[in-house]
Amino acid sequence: MADNKIYRASTTAPVNIAVIKYWGKRDPKLNLPTNSSLSVTLSQSDLRTHTTASCSPKYTCDSLLLNGSPQDVSGARTQACFRELRALRKKLEAENFSLPPLSTYPLKIVSENNFPTAAGLASSAAGFAALVRAIANLYELPSTPTELSKIARQGSGSACRSLFGGYVGWDKGTAVDGSDSVAFEVAPASHWPNMRAVILVVSAAKKGVSSTTGMQTTVATSSLFPARANETVPKRMKEMENAIKNKDFETFGKVTMRDSNSFHATCLDTEPPIFYLNDVSRAAIKIVEGINCAAGKTIAAYTFDAGPNAVIYYLEEHENEVAGLFKAMMGEKEGWEGARGKAVQANHEAMSDV
Ligand code: ADP
Ligand code: DP6
Ligand code: CO
Repeated sequence: MADNKIYRASTTAPVNIAVIKYWGKRDPKLNLPTNSSLSVTLSQSDLRTHTTASCSPKYTCDSLLLNGSPQDVSGARTQACFRELRALRKKLEAENFSLPPLSTYPLKIVSENNFPTAAGLASSAAGFAALVRAIANLYELPSTPTELSKIARQGSGSACRSLFGGYVGWDKGTAVDGSDSVAFEVAPASHWPNMRAVILVVSAAKKGVSSTTGMQTTVATSSLFPARANETVPKRMKEMENAIKNKDFETFGKVTMRDSNSFHATCLDTEPPIFYLNDVSRAAIKIVEGINCAAGKTIAAYTFDAGPNAVIYYLEEHENEVAGLFKAMMGEKEGWEGARGKAVQANHEAMSDV
């Protein structure tokens, strides 16, 4: 009898916001970065991607529905994820003939982000981490988060870090085939559990220049970029890992802010220049400077991805001085439209299968 079944698995994935930014590819095909990076995984109770992967011999072709809109799945990056996951499933099927041949069936991916997509809040990170994990679950792959991070990286670089919770590094690696360019745990969330982040949503609109395009233009044209990738970031990676290990917020905060500014400086130094920050972003920087000045030490640290939205890290004990002030100034509104502050628990578990 023909197999007419639909096989299905779901997962959720969190956003991660880098404190040492990935910006630049040394191999755009394999999505290999010019520098290592480090991030904090945010709580899924506020920002998350929910993805269901299904496959069936009844389906006619691979498809991806994102927030209700059909997406092109013919792009090299989505194809690379599908191909690698299918190859792993094929291996299982070859070892165990009783397994249904899911690797030969078309895939249907249905995904929802509960936060703005392509607005500099790491939707590609949560999105591709969820896509890879959902298919791995569907295929019942025994893969570790490290192995899945290597596949997710090919979908979107930052996605490799969303396979882990807590404080997460992405080693740029040295192998030409990208086999050692994977995410790793710097420290679990429980190591420094009082880390918090407030997100200032300046704009939920899609960014003008995608991360992929922006970083490629920066690598090709910025004269500041080589020093950032080869000297500044390697030094900061070590400082940041030590700051996290020692729970040293002063260093964590200072390095976070300097790295965000260094990344945006290379954007401005790109030809044509890329402006991700706007006047509200710069006002947020001034507010953080004021908070730290009043405290006489670093208690708040801003960082901006490729967009105008600010993420401000702080420790729970400074909730009032940091998140309280931002929320009072910006007003906490429902929904993602318009400027507003949203306090979230900064570090949490990486994935949850549902
Ligand atoms: P962001 O700052 O949000 O990460 P990017 O420019 O890096 O913005 O990537 C945005 C792109 O990532 C989207 O246009 C879409 O192609 C992809 N993406 C976002 N969310 C998902 C998802 N849930 N599933 C699959 N792909 C996604
Ligand atoms: C500024 O991972 O979105 O957020 O690999 O081309 O998909 P692609 O880029 P992406 O770039 C993220 C850039 C960043 C910094 C970071 O998350 O480290
Ligand atoms: Co992205």
